[in-house]
Amino acid sequence: MPSQTLEQILEGRRSQPNQLIEVLHDAQKEYGYISREVMQAVSQGLGVPIIEVYRVSSFYKAFRLNPSGKNVLTMCMGTACHVRGAHLLLDQATGQLGVKPGEVTPDGLFSVENVNCLGVCAMGPIVTENGSYHQHMTPGKLRKLIETLRNKEAEGTKHAQA
Ligand code: FES
Repeated sequence: MPSQTLEQILEGRRSQPNQLIEVLHDAQKEYGYISREVMQAVSQGLGVPIIEVYRVSSFYKAFRLNPSGKNVLTMCMGTACHVRGAHLLLDQATGQLGVKPGEVTPDGLFSVENVNCLGVCAMGPIVTENGSYHQHMTPGKLRKLIETLRNKEAEGTKHAQA
């Protein structure tokens, strides 16, 4: 449930420079991604052409144009992580979850994303799980991490049904 409406976000950012990017950041924080409806509301609210809102939203990797899974696994595919086997981690995650980067598992529990560098190259290869960093990751550690997250979700479901 968003803590503020899009109207409140727009009102708070209207007079700022770079307001479009700031509004899109706020909207993504509240709604999880930049939907077509959000783009239209931002376009109208700021008086910016919809094509410009779409251009900015799709240009920056920080913006998501589709909903993500409940658990987001982000694979760093930057050079330092790549030479330490990041592609093996990507293969592990996509193979174990049965999704491609940018997709969400059918149960909505996981999505896998790629980034170019997370800024902590010496600790690579890096995977983030819902924003938490996992350094010196291996395919085996990643498999266990995914299993742990799956088990937690299953436990949560059992408790919710009891
Ligand atoms: S290349 Fe992975 S953190 Fe920089």
